[in-house]
Amino acid sequence: MATATSLSTLFLLFLATVALVAARRDLVGDFLRLPSDSGNDDNVQGTRWAILFAGSNGYWNYRHQADICHAYQILRKGGLKEENIIVFMYDDIAFNWDNPRPGVIINKPDGGDVYEGVPKDYTGEDATAHNFYAALLGDKSALTGGSGKVVNSGPDDRIFIFYSDHGGPGVLGTPAGPYIYASDLVEVLKKKHASGTYKNLVFYLEACEAGSIFEGLLPEDINIYATTASNAEESSWGTYCPGEYPSPPPEYSTCLGDLYSVAWMEDSDRHNLRTESLHQQYKVVKDRTLAGGYYGSHVMQYGDVGFNKDNLFLYLGTDPANDNLTFVDENSLWSSSTAVNQRDADLVHFWHKFRKAPEGSPKKNEARKQVLEVMSHRMHIDDSVKLVGKLLFGFEKAPEVLNAVRPAGSALVDDWACLKTMVRTFETHCGSLSQYGMKHMRSFANICNVGIKKEQMAEASAQACVTIPASSWSSLQRGFSA
Ligand SMILES: *[C@@H]1O[C@H](CO)[C@@H](O)[C@H](O)[C@H]1NC(C)=O
Repeated sequence: MATATSLSTLFLLFLATVALVAARRDLVGDFLRLPSDSGNDDNVQGTRWAILFAGSNGYWNYRHQADICHAYQILRKGGLKEENIIVFMYDDIAFNWDNPRPGVIINKPDGGDVYEGVPKDYTGEDATAHNFYAALLGDKSALTGGSGKVVNSGPDDRIFIFYSDHGGPGVLGTPAGPYIYASDLVEVLKKKHASGTYKNLVFYLEACEAGSIFEGLLPEDINIYATTASNAEESSWGTYCPGEYPSPPPEYSTCLGDLYSVAWMEDSDRHNLRTESLHQQYKVVKDRTLAGGYYGSHVMQYGDVGFNKDNLFLYLGTDPANDNLTFVDENSLWSSSTAVNQRDADLVHFWHKFRKAPEGSPKKNEARKQVLEVMSHRMHIDDSVKLVGKLLFGFEKAPEVLNAVRPAGSALVDDWACLKTMVRTFETHCGSLSQYGMKHMRSFANICNVGIKKEQMAEASAQACVTIPASSWSSLQRGFSA
């Protein structure tokens, strides 16, 4: 059993690899538009639809469901009807025993409740990739569980999709089931387009390596415009985290939001969205999410970038209370804040829980156990992937092959079925990759890209993980799978 001191050292060593630097920026608004420039009136043809998807569960992932609930409030204030907004969330936050304000979810330190009224369309085990695809395609018969709400859209309608969670190269997490693979998602989007049931679709995506979901995959001619929190090779960031600035109220031991997500939502909260274009919001969000370059990530655009001249109003509606608040770049308002790497936010939660618990209490022991479990699971996954690489490619060549990055504009992998097989094979022998392990997707993709066969992978995984039976990780799989 580790002592508190050695645990601190371990954690500080770990933190040393994570840049947590306050950033200060001075941005001068470089664009201003008058309402009369908007070129749109309220006689918008068609219906606005939205799908909101929080991909995680667990109190340490509070922020993803908080983001999704906040987005719901924006859309309702904007005038979208509940029947046109489909919410996927595990729904274990509001009444979580760790939540200091039962029944309430906030998305910023001084923010009000964003949970009230959020419909429970696909919660718990029903918040799956499968139901997400079925709901988007309007295919009621393919649903399993849930409210049965689907995007029953027509050719004049506009669709907005917002997803927030952990991801990895080529994958997005879901709270209780298989990952969303980029290739499957893009196939579903193409199918939706082929059915002629939307005019334009806007996709906002918060996740690590989020760019890898669309890069080299999303066509430019299917009326879809996407922005992502990060490029294909970097983490995205949680914000309003304990110990950071601005920090959540002291009773919260978890991050309240994600940097890209709160950037687009806090911008939308304060403007007449008839006067702001998708492109203007992209620029504001890009600046805020880059956070001066000290930490932060690169917001990207994909797909049919041509229609980013459209006003946000066409997709999000607008809150009548903001009618006199013409868009102006206000990034200077949040010139200083800090953030936590998406993948480390769970550790921050367990660490704060550990620090806050009274010495010698059962809570302290439990929190210590959690920190150690998370960290040893991480080491196990990292070491196993490295070892598999060495067994396949030799000591010298392994890092080069595993870490290779394809040129910008190319997809992560050519054979997505191979990627799924490699992941399954590894997990059979080494245990679930879980939320953290998604970061290694590029290595599995590269194993496919150089033509390794399933049998070779099985042999290497079996050798690498021979001493640690997969079953010993089952408790972690329950706790952390994403
Ligand atoms: C906007 O300004 C007009 C004119 O001053 C005023 O009548 C109206 O109430 C304002 N709207 C809002 C939502 O504040």
